[in-house]
Amino acid sequence: MKFFVDTAEIADIKELNDLGMVDGVTTNPSLIKKSGRDILEVTKEICSIVSGPVSAEVTATDADQMIAEGRKLAEIAENITVKVPLTWDGLQACKVLSSEGKMVNVTLCFSANQALIAAKAGATFISPFIGRLDDINIDGMDLIADIRQIYDNYGFETEILAASVRTVNHVTQCALVGADVMTAPPAVIKSLANHPLTDKGLAAFLADIEKTGQKIL
Ligand code: E4P
Repeated sequence: MKFFVDTAEIADIKELNDLGMVDGVTTNPSLIKKSGRDILEVTKEICSIVSGPVSAEVTATDADQMIAEGRKLAEIAENITVKVPLTWDGLQACKVLSSEGKMVNVTLCFSANQALIAAKAGATFISPFIGRLDDINIDGMDLIADIRQIYDNYGFETEILAASVRTVNHVTQCALVGADVMTAPPAVIKSLANHPLTDKGLAAFLADIEKTGQKIL
């Protein structure tokens, strides 16, 4: 499963990228607002750090404007993925932009039918939002499993990009049900290394070596 990092914070992207944890980046208008940066400027900087797909989201709501914005975003770098919302206009923009050879991430997906039509419109990635479904007491992971089955049934090449990942359990479950990619905030990716038994075991080892008085350096 590929790891995308869901942020526009340069320091976090650099740190995770240096560790080989970043196969791509996803941003959205809220993350751009949080960064306090100019969308074009920060997106360009991200693309200079990460070689994998970098999703930058359009802000228009009608197809023609989305297409124009998508073309402008795609000029930033070769690894730009134009992110469009899963609306009828968004699907029209997806079809046009993907036909021009641009990568397109169709976002804000909350149903299997939405994922099906995004694939038919030529989406490179479909972004089902797990956490936001969990927030309304619907199991987001069931949606990932349904989309996996539908795409496999018909050989759709659209990659399932599990989004709105909020916990380490979401990451495990995404990998188990076969999401192609998951995107998570830096804190969630970093906390994948945590286990209380690792901390406990390390503390015991350090206490024992200290009792011997030995040092390696
Ligand atoms: C994905 O592309 C979105 O940017 C993101 O995962 C949304 O996550 P949230 O529901 O935690 O805001």
